[in-house]
Amino acid sequence: MTVPDIPLNSGETIPQLGFGVFKIDPAETADAVSEALKFGYRHIDTAEMYRNEKGVGEAVQASGLYRSEVYITSKLNNGFHRPDDARRAFDGTLKALGSDYVDLFLIHWPLPTLYGGDFVSTWHTLEEFYREGRARSIGVSNFQVSHLQRLVQESEVVPAVNQIEVHPYLCNEEVRSADAELGIVTQAWSPIAKGRVLKDPTIGAIASRLGRTPAQVTLRWHIQRGDVIFPKSTTPARMKENFEIVDFELEPEDMAAISALDRGEEGRTGPNPDVFAYVPRSV
Ligand SMILES: NC(=O)c1ccc[n+]([C@@H]2O[C@H](COP(=O)([O-])OP(=O)(O)OC[C@H]3O[C@@H](n4cnc5c(N)ncnc54)[C@H](OP(=O)(O)O)[C@@H]3O)[C@@H](O)[C@H]2O)c1
Repeated sequence: MTVPDIPLNSGETIPQLGFGVFKIDPAETADAVSEALKFGYRHIDTAEMYRNEKGVGEAVQASGLYRSEVYITSKLNNGFHRPDDARRAFDGTLKALGSDYVDLFLIHWPLPTLYGGDFVSTWHTLEEFYREGRARSIGVSNFQVSHLQRLVQESEVVPAVNQIEVHPYLCNEEVRSADAELGIVTQAWSPIAKGRVLKDPTIGAIASRLGRTPAQVTLRWHIQRGDVIFPKSTTPARMKENFEIVDFELEPEDMAAISALDRGEEGRTGPNPDVFAYVPRSV
């Protein structure tokens, strides 16, 4: 199974298919990531907010793979947007991962209603990590079009990626187009809408016709749209199923039928980034 590598504006490349660890219990993360690495995943998406960076690092170290063979992303927690806090948090991320660099580091949420709406100073702090080589690429997550425009106008480094909610029920075309225009790669989080799209009759019919599962058809749709994905599962059979999506193709009619399932804002499963203002209590 060869997972395509996608070029980033930093000059680095990222495996288009990875493994997400949101909601995986910190105590179970090392085992889950070890299992995923055995199936062939070479890209892990974690975050300080998930409290499981340590398990990711442990699994990579125990795998026998070189650090350079596994692409690791982490994200700045919402309580640490002020520059000094961001610097401390980033040191903590590297320590937890047991690595002197991270492949990709993101601002997890823009939080436009907190910190006086200033996510630009936070971004300038990530630019430091990038220049130091401790973050090989930097990017953002959950940035809306207006947030991206402001960031690009007021900064030197254009984000390498924007990680946003995208799946057949929320195609998020406006943000994806803005990303593409700015040379930013879109990463689609909750690619199967946390399982919600798997009972969809349109997706089910395509899956039966092709002898694939609804999850495989949905993940394949993302791959053909060019987005980077990292489905999460703690079920080994599903980890394997989700990885086996690079050896078939959807016809343009099937791609269009899946895209037509878009419900816009009604399809959103997570918070709206324009108003989301959550800061974890333990921060
Ligand atoms: N930047 C952000 O703000 C943000 C927000 C959310 C997520 N993310 C990232 O995106 C990753 C993926 O998103 P997600 O975890 O929210 O949702 P997801 O990957 O769309 O769905 C995960 C859910 O679907 C189930 N599942 C996985 N594969 C399946 C299959 N083949 N058949 C049936 N059910 C299946 C999993 O169950 P089991 O585990 O029980 O198998 C789990 O309940 C996260 O892990 C995280 O890395 C980022």
